[in-house]
Amino acid sequence: MNENLIIDKEKCVNCAQCVNDCITHCIKMSKEENIPVFRKGGEERCIKCQHCMTICPTGALTLWGKNPENSDAVNPEYNSEELLRLIKSRRSYRKYRQENLDEERMNKLKDMINWAPTGVNNHRLYFSFIDDMEVMDDFRNKVNTKLVNLLNKTPFKGIKQKFSRYIKAILAGEDVIFRNAPHMVVVSTPLDAPCKDIDPVIALSYFELYAQSMGVATLWCGLAEACLKLFPEFSEYLEIPDNYKASYVMLFGLTDKKYHRTTQPDKYNIISVKKKDNNTKVSLFRKIQRFIWNF
Ligand SMILES: Cc1cc2nc3c(=O)[nH]c(=O)nc-3n(C[C@H](O)[C@H](O)[C@H](O)COP(=O)(O)O)c2cc1C
Repeated sequence: MNENLIIDKEKCVNCAQCVNDCITHCIKMSKEENIPVFRKGGEERCIKCQHCMTICPTGALTLWGKNPENSDAVNPEYNSEELLRLIKSRRSYRKYRQENLDEERMNKLKDMINWAPTGVNNHRLYFSFIDDMEVMDDFRNKVNTKLVNLLNKTPFKGIKQKFSRYIKAILAGEDVIFRNAPHMVVVSTPLDAPCKDIDPVIALSYFELYAQSMGVATLWCGLAEACLKLFPEFSEYLEIPDNYKASYVMLFGLTDKKYHRTTQPDKYNIISVKKKDNNTKVSLFRKIQRFIWNF
């Protein structure tokens, strides 16, 4: 018996759905007992996605210590209209109540992000939460001070002029970067993660929608991300591990702002691709051009 793949033989109905759903073909039905077992080298190939555990109709399969009894039941009848309304109602918030978010919602948010998918189930994202307003104030003051110093000292007149509005605003006590948000989450990704550019964005997208479904306001913060790039010492402050990249920032907290209707966005270009005639030739120049654009 391999302790990383335990089958409850009383429950297993030998349907092989686990084997058929395995993306890395790391398990097979054993000849002797007709139950799932690791193939040779399968244990090393397994990406721990748990498809086998979640598809098993009788909950017979425990993988890497993940017992099906600890999973929630899946209800396929989600209310898609409600979800759509949430997506359409989502807003960026730039005014926050000056109070800490209650522990219950904070913990729910921290728990939820564990379900954000990552490429090849890499699942090594790192989340630095500032969940205390006092820490957030300390962080914002330190970043703002550094930024003003840097912009004041820069020998490049153009940069000074371009950012003069920010310098003036920060000196006047306006928090143009962190919008006086009481909280912030920074997601970092290992440099060797196969989908390091997109994994953090997915996680924060999940975070934003779940937060707003619970009445917690959020803001994607490109300016804070730029500051993290500019001042590497703040990655130390955020306790980001070595060989990780600080990827993106989301501010959040409670708000008194209320929006009463959805937006009416300009439409993106959305096309339905048509089947192409096999004879349509793509020139080498065009291929090189596309190659460059796609990178
Ligand atoms: C990737 C990204 C970065 C953003 N960075 C900032 C920012 O640094 N500061 C800010 O006030 N808003 C920021 N925003 C918010 C956008 O300005 C906002 O999405 C836009 O104004 C539309 O408003 P809505 O999100 O309420 O629909 C950012 C949004 C995204 C998606």
